Amino acid sequence: DRSIKIAPSILSADFADFGREIRAIEAQGADWVHVDVMDGHFVPNLTFGPPLCKAIRPHIKTVMDVHLMISPVDQYIDAYADAGADVITAHLEAGPHIHRTLQAIRGAGCKAGLALNPGTGIEQIDYLLDQLDLICVMTVNPGFGGQKFIHSQIDKVRKLRAMIGDRPIHIEIDGGITPETAPLMAEAGADVLVAGSAVFKGGSVEQPEAYGANIAAI
Ligand code: DX5
Ligand code: ZN
Repeated sequence: DRSIKIAPSILSADFADFGREIRAIEAQGADWVHVDVMDGHFVPNLTFGPPLCKAIRPHIKTVMDVHLMISPVDQYIDAYADAGADVITAHLEAGPHIHRTLQAIRGAGCKAGLALNPGTGIEQIDYLLDQLDLICVMTVNPGFGGQKFIHSQIDKVRKLRAMIGDRPIHIEIDGGITPETAPLMAEAGADVLVAGSAVFKGGSVEQPEAYGANIAAI
């Protein structure tokens, strides 16, 4: 179904309280939970390993959407699948064998996602479409929350939507999503909107209604 789903990124949550943060955003209307994995190599920041993902998994009732910003990636796929990921997304730019990577993700029993950096075109996707459940269009350069939305990516989403046709592939947008930019992406053909700072700002596990208002505004 093409209804718009909101996937809060826990990169902007309270790292000391992930269980409560996740329960709060799900109670406030989050459709998926987005987990940003960074390796300090593919991107200049470090975040969550498989044990952390395994620890938060029991708190997630919806979809655990794991975004791997790591290179190399293949040797870690089984560990994130075992940790309970429903969707695993790898970057086209992360290595020379993306076809093998996507095969490995599905082989591990997960939905396979492919992320594209803002500077990457869509030409290389033609021969991958049959192996994809999701394409993640980065609307910031990956590595940090709270960056500014890159408008040139709207055109990319429109072209991808046409390329996908009626295949059951999600288009996910990641970075700089706000109540102002979200409608642009939905109109261009996206159906999963990741949002970190825009969901968590002004709220807390003690004030989760703010999360609900933020989600509703997107
Ligand atoms: C960026 C991450 C995003 C990030 C989005 O590298 O992939 O998921 O958390 O954060 P905002 O919504 O604040 O741009
Ligand atoms: Zn992400």
